[in-house]
Amino acid sequence: MSAQRGSTGGPQLPNDADLSTASREDLVRLGSSLDGVTIVHRQDPFPVPGTRAEKRTERAVARWFFLAALAGLGFLAAYLFWPFQYAPPGSPGDRHLLYQLYTPIIGVLLGLAVFAVGAGTIGYARNLLPHETAVQERHMGGSSEVDRATVGAILADSGISSGIARRSLIKRAAGIGGLVLGAGLGVFALGGLVRNPWKGGNEAALWVTPWHSANGEPVFLRYDSEHVTLARPEDLAAGSIATVFPYKRSWTEQEAQEAMRASDSPVMLIRLHPEQAARVIQRKGQVSFHYGDFYAYSKICTHLGCPASLYEAQTARLLCPCHQSQFDMLEYAKPIFGPATRALPQLHIDVNDEGYFYAKGDFIEPVGPAFWERRS
Ligand code: FES
Repeated sequence: MSAQRGSTGGPQLPNDADLSTASREDLVRLGSSLDGVTIVHRQDPFPVPGTRAEKRTERAVARWFFLAALAGLGFLAAYLFWPFQYAPPGSPGDRHLLYQLYTPIIGVLLGLAVFAVGAGTIGYARNLLPHETAVQERHMGGSSEVDRATVGAILADSGISSGIARRSLIKRAAGIGGLVLGAGLGVFALGGLVRNPWKGGNEAALWVTPWHSANGEPVFLRYDSEHVTLARPEDLAAGSIATVFPYKRSWTEQEAQEAMRASDSPVMLIRLHPEQAARVIQRKGQVSFHYGDFYAYSKICTHLGCPASLYEAQTARLLCPCHQSQFDMLEYAKPIFGPATRALPQLHIDVNDEGYFYAKGDFIEPVGPAFWERRS
């Protein structure tokens, strides 16, 4: 079948009988001419299939996809099994080094997998697809039935002439690479859902913070210093604040470091001016949580979890820098501006016989942003 020029100057359209018997090549040629496409140059890089040169090129392309698969597998393994938990310098078994390497390792492996897929795809397009130069004149309006049929044939022809059907090595390598990379990205996206936050019942991570003491051992308030320095009332002048962390005397250095790094540990210890303290409105059930003019609140913003630590002593307001929520320290750290809707959880504090602050218990409500199962 060949396209003849019609009376309007365009190619003559075939009838239905011709269309149904037309070969793929005929339809490709017809479609090209109907679309005003002129193929200026077309060359198959390997006109004779199965030559050594073609096999060599195939292997080179397949190597990229296998590399993508390997890197994707490595990413999956590192993401799932690498010991990513924080470990302080000097921890046994180079745990600190492993902790430091976690992010670079998963970043490099994921980047390598994506790069290798891209390199393989480019290598295939450059070295194995037919080299073609075509010129097309664009037309206005929608496409006719004939156009749609011929475009389908052209697409099918592209797939066949790309040679992918007979290049099983590349097909397998690309399939494996794509699969592994897809699985890696899936795990990456869903990884946060794999761990069960409710493991441990009432002692689950969402309910309990490092301020919790199961055996009644006192949990002191310490500063973020190289050597453990416990907080005392005389450390703070009126109108000042300090960030403190939990500390148990029975903890090893590593346990103490881990407690300092826990996201729900930081607490703002605030000393109000005496005249402000006289005006404080206490929260129901928490009237004894303070020690004199000293109040301790979680530093983790109840909006999205930023550290809220910009304190304005004159107004006794605490500002979260992320979205400008403000908490009133004269009214149980209630939010008075911005997107936060819940007060900062208050820590029940006291001073022991040695003159050090300690927590009389864990927070009585979850710290940080809301979640569906919150009980308060
Ligand atoms: S995280 Fe504090 S206001 Fe948004």
